[in-house]
Amino acid sequence: MRTEQPKVIHLKDYQAPEYLIDETHLTFELYEDRTLVHAQLVMRRNPERPAGKLPPLELHGQQLELLSIALNDRTLSLGDYQLSEDCLTLQPDSDSFVIDSSVVIHPESNTALEGLYKSGSMFCTQCEAEGFRKITYYLDRPDVMSKFTTTVSAEQKAYPVLLSNGNPIASGSEDNGRHWTTWEDPFKKPAYLFALVAGDLWCVEDSFTTMSGREVALRIYVEPENIDKCQHAMDSLKKSMKWDEEAYGREYDLDIFMIVAVNDFNMGAMENKGLNIFNSSAVLARAETATDAAHQRVEAIVAHEYFHNWSGNRVTCRDWFQLSLKEGFTVFRDAQFSADMNSPTVKRIEDVAYLRTHQFAEDAGPMAHSVRPESFIEISNFYTLTVYEKGAEVVRMIQTLLGKEGFRKGSDLYFERHDGQAVTVDDFVKAMEDANGADLSQFKRWYSQAGTPRLSVSEQYDEAAQTYRLTFRQSCPPTPGQPTKEPFVIPVELGLLAADGSDLPLRLQGEAQAQGTSRVLAVTEAEQSFTFVDMPERPQPSLLRGFSAPVKLDYPYSRDQLMFFMQHDSDGFNRWEAGQQLSVQVLQELIGQHQRGEALALDERLIEAMRSLLQNETLDAAMVAEMLSLPGEAYLTEISEVADVDAIHAAREFARKRIADALFEPLWHRYQANRETSRNTAYVASAEHFARRALQNIALSYLMLSEKTEVLEACLEQFEHADNMTERLTALAVLVNSPFEAERDKALQAFAEHFKDNPLVMDQWFSVQAGSPLPGGLERVQQLMQHPAFTLKNPNKVRALIGAFANQNLVNFHRADGAGYRFLADQVITLNALNPQIASRLLAPLTRWRKYDGARQALMKGELERILASGELSSDVYEVVSKSLA
Ligand code: TRP
Ligand code: ZN
Repeated sequence: MRTEQPKVIHLKDYQAPEYLIDETHLTFELYEDRTLVHAQLVMRRNPERPAGKLPPLELHGQQLELLSIALNDRTLSLGDYQLSEDCLTLQPDSDSFVIDSSVVIHPESNTALEGLYKSGSMFCTQCEAEGFRKITYYLDRPDVMSKFTTTVSAEQKAYPVLLSNGNPIASGSEDNGRHWTTWEDPFKKPAYLFALVAGDLWCVEDSFTTMSGREVALRIYVEPENIDKCQHAMDSLKKSMKWDEEAYGREYDLDIFMIVAVNDFNMGAMENKGLNIFNSSAVLARAETATDAAHQRVEAIVAHEYFHNWSGNRVTCRDWFQLSLKEGFTVFRDAQFSADMNSPTVKRIEDVAYLRTHQFAEDAGPMAHSVRPESFIEISNFYTLTVYEKGAEVVRMIQTLLGKEGFRKGSDLYFERHDGQAVTVDDFVKAMEDANGADLSQFKRWYSQAGTPRLSVSEQYDEAAQTYRLTFRQSCPPTPGQPTKEPFVIPVELGLLAADGSDLPLRLQGEAQAQGTSRVLAVTEAEQSFTFVDMPERPQPSLLRGFSAPVKLDYPYSRDQLMFFMQHDSDGFNRWEAGQQLSVQVLQELIGQHQRGEALALDERLIEAMRSLLQNETLDAAMVAEMLSLPGEAYLTEISEVADVDAIHAAREFARKRIADALFEPLWHRYQANRETSRNTAYVASAEHFARRALQNIALSYLMLSEKTEVLEACLEQFEHADNMTERLTALAVLVNSPFEAERDKALQAFAEHFKDNPLVMDQWFSVQAGSPLPGGLERVQQLMQHPAFTLKNPNKVRALIGAFANQNLVNFHRADGAGYRFLADQVITLNALNPQIASRLLAPLTRWRKYDGARQALMKGELERILASGELSSDVYEVVSKSLA
């Protein structure tokens, strides 16, 4: 908790450390009521700092009870050092020296889940970003890299498995029922990559032979009851290891790679060297208990953490302002991997929909920051969509500009040049430039300027000259601390379509010949034109193919034009995008009608477009499913000037009902055919099967709106007889949102009874109910908080119930009387004392108050002010609340 005014840390103040730690020797003695940590640090002065008088040594430390500290074997007494809330300061008397410290810490009462803590009966750690300082006195900064040796000692019976980074080098037992293991990590690493686990764990074992022929032991450790849910993660791990060798030439470097699943975890997973620690929701998956989406999430997160071994661990960050160096790059790498393992177009659609809904909202809100932020109060608040997802888009744009081969040359140079170093975003870009002879200096504005650029496009066709000119105008709205922006480098991939839907050859004025039918233009100026020649007819522009830049595109497409692109665009992403834009236009029209009190009337062209998708059985089922999905309420909110929650919900529900009625026959046909296949096919976690179930399930969700008994019966059949969670959960979700109260309650009860011992399945049960827009949503959530399976101490539960309510149940959360806001603020205040990271993330929806009408704005601000006045705030919550009120 904060007792002084919180300090703001600035990138411009960065200084290299005065001292380095060559070796770190740790001993942990784990007990039920306390843990003893002994640390021996072999240190020396940093030769890169100015010589002269020895500066004081300032070791980070928080919530540590100091037992003893010694300098070169001399125990220091009280006057020899100074202790503050987060620092221990002493004066070294030589260039090289050894510090020995002993502290007591309390993992058994650590509810913040940062540092060493207990998840159920096991001990585990989470050190990124600044959690290591809650374990021992240290230079807890990523540019201090050290060789770690770690001994863990615990009672043998309760904690038979004792793990840390690297390789086990010694172990033994004592007479008193305790045992110990020593681990040595041969690679230098920053403290944030340290990990320790102790518990009664079982493991699934496998092995991988690397491209140079070394055999690596692979182990996934879980609580015994989960041992049957590890195969998918293990398969994903092996695929990731192979993929990184092929796509990036990166080989694994230790003899063992371990993953441990824990139930209580603030994020998805953590890339600790050789010992990844995962939220169990990001490891455990089998057909009966995890949906297709969960299977894909496991595959992506296993890959993400594994890829960090190079992009993050071998080459790490100099300071936390460079976080996107590892996160943006690694998200880009895991997206490429998922695209290769599944459907590239579907993966891109999902990523773009997510980015535009959530990252664009962040970039337009009070916490907007650049991909490389300039300052922060609490670094935990900067593990954001901007750093991760927009950061990945920035890396993707570098690849688009340099080409795939050039990008690979750049990444090879980056890894080779900086192996073993803690570096910056500039070093990454420099490697890309040097390997390609390119100049990315203007491009780097993507790292320093916040906000989503707007790109307006106008056109001019000259029939006599047979030329077609596109003019781009870019602008970027002001963001906190950045009133004006310089032009970005915006790669615009485009194609020009002839009237028959074919791609025209693209030749720019001045070029000797056409260069393909889809190409990338780099828009670098505030206003810039490109003229295409040899245009015998006025072409239709397919712009920003594959979403080649994270911008808001402005081009006045007519609905007929969008229908044309939906049918003909050779770029799969833009076919989907045309459908989305058509839906947006139609829904915005309905929203207007609702606001004016008019009768709602749906543009029939949307129905006809969907009908032709449904009737064409040669189309990819996954694409059809994506194209049948209307833009979500959160996206419609993001693109509104002032979001009218009730009108958005009414319009979207009206459209869904009209589509369901008009297309009942083809939906019913596709549903039955796909359900039939599901019934006769064993579950497979592959793209083809995901696609079939996606189409089947979206069809069911429309069909249920008809309220016909044959559909209800089909839904109940699917609920009761499906052999997998994807079908079962969809059936449950559509029942929960249906008027069939008796069937709904029965299904909810049966589901909870059957899965009451599986916490991850119960999370889904909570989410499905928390997200239901039916009236009384808040009261239902409040009741569910009393359910025996719910606890505020488990982040997955908080996200599943409270998070789902505030983020996905917009009509209930934004209730006009403010009760939803009051509820969320109450939870934030309670969680602030338990788990500041979770509290601070949970409050994000309240920070978006500027999006709503005056009455709601006042209510939301009132709750933010109440949080601010509620007492001792963590730096996490303080930063978000104060910035969102500024
Ligand atoms: N480096 C982790 C990842 O993206 C992020 C992470 C895991 C994290 N746990 C955390 C960040 C706790 C902050 C706090 O893979
Ligand atoms: Zn990461």
